[in-house]
Parts: sequence; structure tokens; C-alpha cells
Amino acid sequence: MTDTIPAITVGRTCPFDPPDGSAELRERGPVARVRLFGGHTAWLVTGHAEARALLADPRVSSDQSKPNYPVLQPTHTRLTDLDTTVVFNDPPKHTRLRRMLISSFTVRKIAALRPKIERIVTERLDAMIAAGPPADLLASFALPVPSMVICELLGVPYEDHEFFEEQSRHRRDPDGQALQNLVTYLRDLVQKKIYKPGDGLLDDLIAEQVAEGKLDHDELAMMGMAMLVAGHDTTGHMISLGTMLLLSKPDQLAKVRADQAVIPGAVEELLRYLTIATFLPRTATEDIELGGHTIKAGDGVVVASSIVNREHSDELDVDNSMRQHLAFGFGIHQCLGQNLARAELEIAFRHLFHRIPTLRLAVPVDEVSRRPEAVLSGVTELPVDW
Ligand code: HEM
Repeated sequence: MTDTIPAITVGRTCPFDPPDGSAELRERGPVARVRLFGGHTAWLVTGHAEARALLADPRVSSDQSKPNYPVLQPTHTRLTDLDTTVVFNDPPKHTRLRRMLISSFTVRKIAALRPKIERIVTERLDAMIAAGPPADLLASFALPVPSMVICELLGVPYEDHEFFEEQSRHRRDPDGQALQNLVTYLRDLVQKKIYKPGDGLLDDLIAEQVAEGKLDHDELAMMGMAMLVAGHDTTGHMISLGTMLLLSKPDQLAKVRADQAVIPGAVEELLRYLTIATFLPRTATEDIELGGHTIKAGDGVVVASSIVNREHSDELDVDNSMRQHLAFGFGIHQCLGQNLARAELEIAFRHLFHRIPTLRLAVPVDEVSRRPEAVLSGVTELPVDW
């Protein structure tokens, strides 16, 4: 019998578009079988209504230890030492962890971070401009901004910001040294904060959870790491890919430059169009009827958010975005940091295009090197000139 189940590709030939072969996958219907890396099969959800229904369904699990949890790339490793990571937990533990964090992401807390984000963005641009063109926008701007913002979010003292930023930039180095340095640093910081409280997410959690015996010191340090893992590369790759996309679409960039009021909508549209968190993996815990199929208990399911978000349009239009896109997911795991990420993106794009009106790509789009086969889409450097 011929195998008619198509394989899904994680890599993107065009860094702005969903993975290769997406059009064919979409044609197979909103819910269809696919073959994953390593030969396992899973369900792929490409329809918007079906994706939202599945992500809101209590009969799916995000637990990476489930036998059929969809593995999408060869480098996929289970973050066993990060099991306080909200995103890989199911209720009731997920509910408990998420509730702890919610008070650090309120509208008021994000509003209070805005002036700090403005300062960080301005300082980074000053340094990049002073060093003169050309520059690697990823290393000198797009990645440092979110790691500095996470310092402010967590309550890392100002004098440690450079160290924290440097270590987070090397967090994925194969020798694991920077990752270890960060864990050690956060453990020490938690100890210091117990005796000398400051202002930030770690301090909030010490006052609200550690003092009550609901979280121990080590779990708190890991919670800090989890925030870095969730909010650093994601925001950094959105800043760099978003810049690259706008620079390659002059008509859209002109609208962003002409009127600052366009920027929030443009951010939303860039999030939708790029959907850098390409796939959202789940496992069914009970039988689920979806799109005319029965997803059996134990089956792996992958929501192809990057494909779903193009159902609205394959064109980028900064004046006309879609409200209910899935770039931040949907349901109980919907991105906790989304309003912080929006604030960072708005402030980063506003200052970048205002301060450097002649900014341009230093190499053609197809020569910019990509992150290889990564579920989180991005580039490895972004050469720019002005
Ligand atoms: C543009 C930047 C960002 C993007 C595209 C993004 C995307 C996402 C997505 C798609 C999810 C859901 C994953 C799933 O359902 O499996 C998620 C969850 C999460 N994100 Fe973000 N994120 C961004 C920035 C941030 C920032 C800045 C923070 C915080 C510092 C953050 C913290 C979290 C947390 C804690 C979760 C887990 C929520 C839960 O499981 O309840 N994210 N993010």
C-alpha cells in the first residue's frame, strides 16, 4: 500500500512564509494526518475555527513526556530541568503556576515597564549608531532589547544587566556554560532578594508565594529562567524578522514611517504574517471529534499556527490586520507576555525607523542566513546599513 500521509517540513525557504509545502497541506483539509520528523504520525490542524476549538479544548495536553507528544525537529530536547515552565504543564499544575505569574503581567505592570523599555531601546540604538554602519541588527539590537527588558521584569539589579544580557545571548551555546551561569546567577539573586527585596517579578513571587511556602527557592530561580526562555528569542526574532520584512516592502514601511498611529496595527499584522512560533504541539487525552475526524486519545496533534494565520490573507497589510490571529496561541496557554511583547515591538520599531530613516538591508533577503530547521523561525544575523 502506498503511503499517502505527507511529511511536514519545519524549514522555511522564505523566512516570512509558513514552512515549505504548506499550501499542499492546507488543501488536505482543516484537519489531516501528517508524518513528523522521525516517522511518527500526528494530526495537523490548519483551519482557523478548528485550531481555536482544539486549543481551547480541555481534552488536550501540553505535557512533553506524553508518549506521542509531537516532536518536530531533530534538536528537540525535553526541558526536564525546567518543569516549572508553565507552557509544558497541564492543569491543575498549570493553573497554579499561571495564577502566580498573572499579577506581574497586568496592564498597570506593563505600563510601568514602558518608560524602561523606551530607555533600553534608546540606549541600544545610541550604541549601534555610535559604532557606525554596517551592523548586525540581531546581535546589537533585536536580542539585547528583550533580554534587558526581562531584567527589568524580573528585577535584576541594573549593575548586572550587561552580564545577564551577555549570558542570555550565549544561552544556546553547545558547551552549556552560559545557561549554567544564568541558573547560578538566578539562584544567587533569589537568595539576595530574600534578605533585601526589590521591585520585580521575582520579588512579587517571594512576597506572595515563597513566604507562604507555595514555591521553593529553586523553583523560583527556574521560573526566572522560564521567563527568559519564553520572552527572549521570541521577541528578538520578531524584532529582526519584522524589520527585515518591512525593509523589503517599502510601501508598507512608508505607512509605518508616515504615521506613528499605524504602529500598533502594524505590529499585530507582523505578528500574524510571520507567526514565528510555527507550530503548537499537543496530545489528545480523550477522543476528540474535529473537522470530520476522530482524534483518538493518545494521538499527537500539531496546530499549524503559521498556516492558520494566512487563512485571512497572504498579503501583508499594516492598515488591516486580523484581530484573532494565533501568533500568541489560544486557550489556557495563550502567551502570558503578549502585552509586554507588543509594547517592546511597538517601541523598538518606532525608535528604529525614526532614528535611522535610511536603514536598509546590507544583503538581499535570500542571502540572510536563517535559523536551521527551527520551530521558532528567525535569522542567525541581520546585516544592515544606513
Ligand atoms: C513576540 C514575542 C512572543 C511570541 C511570538 C510568543 C508566543 C507565544 C506562544 C505561541 C505561546 C503559546 C504556546 C503554546 O500554546 O504551546 C506563548 C506562551 C507563553 N509566553 Fe510568549 N511569546 C512572546 C513573548 C513573550 C514574552 C515577552 C514573555 C514574558 C516575558 C512570554 C511569556 C510566555 C509564557 C509564560 C507562556 C506560557 C503561558 C502558559 O502556558 O500559560 N512570551 N508565547
